[in-house]
Amino acid sequence: MILPEPLLRISDLVAGYGHRSALKHVHIDVVESELVGIVGPNGAGKTTLLETIAGTLRTKNGEIRYRNMRIEQLSEMERRKKGLVLIPQDDYIFPGMSVQDNLEVAGILNDKDTTKKLLAEVYEIFPILKDRVKQLADTMSGGERKMLAVAMGLVSQADLIMIDEPSLGLAPNLVTKLLGSLKRIKKKTKRTLILAEQSIKILDVADRLFGLEGGEIVFSDKIENVNREKVEILFFGG
Ligand SMILES: Nc1ncnc2c1ncn2[C@@H]1O[C@H](COP(=O)(O)OP(=O)(O)OP(=O)(O)O)[C@@H](O)[C@H]1O
Ligand SMILES: [Mg+2]
Repeated sequence: MILPEPLLRISDLVAGYGHRSALKHVHIDVVESELVGIVGPNGAGKTTLLETIAGTLRTKNGEIRYRNMRIEQLSEMERRKKGLVLIPQDDYIFPGMSVQDNLEVAGILNDKDTTKKLLAEVYEIFPILKDRVKQLADTMSGGERKMLAVAMGLVSQADLIMIDEPSLGLAPNLVTKLLGSLKRIKKKTKRTLILAEQSIKILDVADRLFGLEGGEIVFSDKIENVNREKVEILFFGG
């Protein structure tokens, strides 16, 4: 069997803060149109990993290849132009601006027609945003702001969308809804998604799971091969 060329290939990645390395020789391959979950306890290095891929944090050692091109020396903006976007753990929106203005800023690198098309797509996935186009982002609920942040990632025309803890602070039914929407987005738009998650519901949507602990990958497998019980005990407190 010929395996597809990975969209993202991370080899021997070391990164961290000051003299401490929060990531130790990490290897990860992500194939196009995959939904990948990165799971692990607090302090495991999930945010560090996503920030290093997005370029907000510099690599200390190792390679990051995107479409077979080395990107670890590129700035965050250069990586964004290549189609990688990170929706950070904290809010990514502009609070004093309306929903519509937030989405338009997110699409600033696109031509007008592309933004229009992407906006239509986003409103179909998250109809609540269409109903609230004029509402100021900071008056939206936590769940609605999360949807707006994800929608901004989509409008930015990124091929690889990384989201740091999409479920953080959301009620259980909204977590199910948001993760379900992300899976549909992946299917419909063929985009690739990497989600750092601490919700067990990631097991219901991911195609592949990487377990991170103490800055090291402790397992990686297709979801059908993952021992759910073991993962539950290891990362979600059983
Ligand atoms: N700005 C920083 N300066 C120094 N150390 C940091 C900084 N940010 C994170 N760390 C450390 O790096 C390690 C990995 O942190 P990281 O935020 O990547 O973990 P995480 O898996 O995202 O955790 P959480 O689930 O709590 O968000 C931790 O030991 C943390 O204390
Ligand atoms: Mg984190």
